[in-house]
Amino acid sequence: MIALKSDRELEVMRKACQITAAARQLAGEMIRPGISTGAIDKAVHDFILSQGAKPSFLHYSGYPASVCISVNDQVIHGIPDKHTKLKEGDIVSIDVGAYYQGFHGDCAATFPCGRISPQAQKLIDVTRQSFFEGIRYARQGARVSDISHAVQTYAEQFGYGVVRSYVGHGVGEKLHEEPEVPNYGAPGRGPRLIRGMTLAIEPMINQGTHEVRVLRDGWTVVTKDGGLSAHYENTVLITDGEPEILTVTGDGVL
Ligand code: MF3
Ligand code: CO
Repeated sequence: MIALKSDRELEVMRKACQITAAARQLAGEMIRPGISTGAIDKAVHDFILSQGAKPSFLHYSGYPASVCISVNDQVIHGIPDKHTKLKEGDIVSIDVGAYYQGFHGDCAATFPCGRISPQAQKLIDVTRQSFFEGIRYARQGARVSDISHAVQTYAEQFGYGVVRSYVGHGVGEKLHEEPEVPNYGAPGRGPRLIRGMTLAIEPMINQGTHEVRVLRDGWTVVTKDGGLSAHYENTVLITDGEPEILTVTGDGVL
């Protein structure tokens, strides 16, 4: 069953998502050569608590941190730690969730560390744009896989691999709700979208093969071929008109 959120629930969820987006922005602003991923995690953890919220990921299925920080060939679920230092030229995916008064927000973005290669910047830009291609179909009456198909078609034009083993999802009272929102597939499949659904749409795009593997830590997902990977995610509300991106800061930063 797909939970439809009432207007009253959405007021709270907007706030949860605004805190989440501010946490993503804070993490992005901290990225610079020499900083440890653990320091970013700690600052974001403290920020989320200061907003009266809780980090959604901390202890979720045993995940040990508040933010996922995935560098270069790491796709998702990189574990921050104080010994991992960012360096010039890295691309850094930040994924964060905040739980506020009963609702979760979930969002991600990939940021450059200092100067990066044009190839890396292109991957970041295409990944972000693939999300915007997808939400063109996040409308009442469309089907879930219309979003999926749009993301895949756009990203694959550039020769990139669209990750299949991990997908977007409904989000709300639980971090992961129905339906699954894949970033690939034929259009016209899956549930029909209805006003009040809240979806985390999150393309994960690889420079090379779409194939991934999980490191021995049991969490970190990396590309099989060692190529770079980027991620972009927002929590999106289906309305009877334009979709509303909920994970936006008070200043309008996505
Ligand atoms: N943003 C991730 C997702 O959408 C959540 C990270 S998983 C966790 O699934 F275990 F680290 F929380
Ligand atoms: Co998510």
